[in-house]
Amino acid sequence: MFKSPSPLAEEPRTKIIEQLNARLADGLDLHSQIKVAHWNVKGPQFAALHPLFESFAVALAAFNDEIAERAVTLGGRAYGTARQVARASGLPEYPAETSRDLEHVRLLVERFEKYLDGVRAARAIAEKLGDPDGVDLFTRVVAEFEKNAWFLRASLE
Ligand SMILES: [Fe+2]
Repeated sequence: MFKSPSPLAEEPRTKIIEQLNARLADGLDLHSQIKVAHWNVKGPQFAALHPLFESFAVALAAFNDEIAERAVTLGGRAYGTARQVARASGLPEYPAETSRDLEHVRLLVERFEKYLDGVRAARAIAEKLGDPDGVDLFTRVVAEFEKNAWFLRASLE
């Protein structure tokens, strides 16, 4: 554990860093899956979904960066290589053969919801451990990705 400007004690910091790295693994995995959907989507909804998926990837990349930097700010390390992510992610793999537009929407919304479950759980832990700034970060992720999950759900209805 490295020195940190945070006033949190080492034990809660260690637990929060673990949560940040778990969310980073899910987030980097989800980012790669969104890009795969962005590249491979085909069908009548292509023109709407191709840029929509890219906007999700851009938003998630910014959060992944914030989450990684928060782990290091708290005195930890950020683990984010493709191999580390493949071992640590809690998301299911993205089916390689998918091409139809609404099938991508369905697969992504399932994964957004799984990702959100993890972020909400991390937020509850940060709250219990007295880290309001971690709570704030996770809340911003939840608000953005609940909105994005709604965009997807609305396309399916
Ligand atoms: Fe692109």
